[in-house]
Amino acid sequence: MQKQPILIAPSILSADLLQLEKQVKTLTENGADYIHVDVMDGHFVPNLTFGPNMVKALKRITNVPLDVHLMISNPDAYIEAYARAGADILTVHQEACTHLHRTIQSIHNQNVKAGVSLNPATSLSTIENVLDDIDLLLIMTVNPGFGGQKFIPQGLKKIAKARKMIDTEEHDILLEVDGGVDNQTVESIVQAGARVLVSGSAIFGRDDIVKAMKQLKEKAENA
Ligand code: DX5
Ligand code: ZN
Repeated sequence: MQKQPILIAPSILSADLLQLEKQVKTLTENGADYIHVDVMDGHFVPNLTFGPNMVKALKRITNVPLDVHLMISNPDAYIEAYARAGADILTVHQEACTHLHRTIQSIHNQNVKAGVSLNPATSLSTIENVLDDIDLLLIMTVNPGFGGQKFIPQGLKKIAKARKMIDTEEHDILLEVDGGVDNQTVESIVQAGARVLVSGSAIFGRDDIVKAMKQLKEKAENA
C-alpha cells in the first residue's frame, strides 16, 4: 500500500479563543490539513469545552475538514447534532461506546467519516473487530482532558502495532495520534507509523503559529 501523506490537525483547544477566527484562518490558509475540535463533557473527561455551535461557527470560516474528537459519554445522543453542524470526521472513544459497531454505523448514516479513539490504557484488541468499518483510528498518547500534557512514551509501541494491523489487512484507515506531539516527539511518532498529527500547545503556544505548524510538518515529513 502506498504511504499516506502526513496531515497536520491543529487543535483549537489551545487556541486564543478571543482570536479564534483569525488563528483558524491563518492556519488553514497556510497549510493546516484538518482543524481538530476537542469536545469534552465534564463526565467522560474532567473538563468542559465546545458544543455543536462551535463546529457550526468554524464551518462558516473554513473549508478545511473539521476533525471532531468527541470525549463524551453517550456519544450516540449527539452524532446527528455534530453531523448537522458540519463535522467531516467524528471520532468517538471506544471506552464510551457499549455498542461500538452501531455507533460507527450511525456516524456513517450521517455521511460523516467515522473514527475511533483509544485511551492510553486501552488495548488495540478492543477495536480489532471494527477495523473494516472505520475511517480513522486515533491513538491517545496522553490521558484525554487537557492540552499541554507530557507524551506517554509507551504509546509508540501501540502506534507501531496499529500500523501493522492496518497494513497487514490493507485497511484504508488514517492513523492519527493526539497528545504531546511536538518538535521533540514528532519524529518517533511518525517513524512508528502515524500519519495524522494533532497538535495543540506546540502550535498555539508559540508566537508564530504558522511557523510552528510548518516546522512540525517538515520534521514529520523528514522523519
Ligand atoms: C487532549 C486533546 C488534545 C489536545 C492535545 O485531551 O484530545 O487534542 O488538544 O494537546 P497537546 O498537543 O497540547 O498535547
Ligand atoms: Zn483531541
